[in-house]
Amino acid sequence: MSTDIDARATDTLDGTGLIVWFTGLSGAGKTTISEAVRTELLARHLRVEVLDGDAVRKDLSKDLGFTRAGRDENIRRIGYVAGLLARNGVIVLVSAISPYRAGREEIRQRFGRFVEVFVNAPLDVCVERDPKGLYKKARAGLLMNLTGVDDPYEPPISPEVECCTDRESVEDSVTKVLSAVLPLT
Ligand code: ADX
Repeated sequence: MSTDIDARATDTLDGTGLIVWFTGLSGAGKTTISEAVRTELLARHLRVEVLDGDAVRKDLSKDLGFTRAGRDENIRRIGYVAGLLARNGVIVLVSAISPYRAGREEIRQRFGRFVEVFVNAPLDVCVERDPKGLYKKARAGLLMNLTGVDDPYEPPISPEVECCTDRESVEDSVTKVLSAVLPLT
């Protein structure tokens, strides 16, 4: 029996699972939008799971740091789990900075049913929001390699959805995501 996820994904896919991948800077609104999308999908009796970067890094990726290698490995693990769930008919909402285009593209290529949501807010807006105090810590020299500050973020080139969270409401963003996701369910 093959253990290749590509083969297994195409073998057993019942056509309903998919990966919805939210990428963007810390504080851009990934978690807020993905949680609201989750609520809407559950209300439609769809099977949903959320893989959130913060939660994953406390558990599955506890051993990893924030170098390029650490981030790439984190995204590879998340992509692997998301693929397993999605091939069993689950709509998987991934919410992770996922700063590198190549890592996101690899998961898109592997799985196919992949909706990329660019949660886009200018850095100064994220710094202003700073819900976790990360930007403040970075300014104080207490946190290095913070994405967008002294670590790269590669924005998607042609995401299925772009949410400009400095200019649109959470409801607007959720509506956009649902219009891309619901036709695929
Ligand atoms: S990713 O780059 O590997 O995709 P992920 O989304 O899982 O990142 O985790 C980001 C979370 O880790 C942030 O929300 C923040 O709480 C924490 N964090 C700690 N250090 C950093 C850092 N240097 N850059 C970004 N996030 C960090």
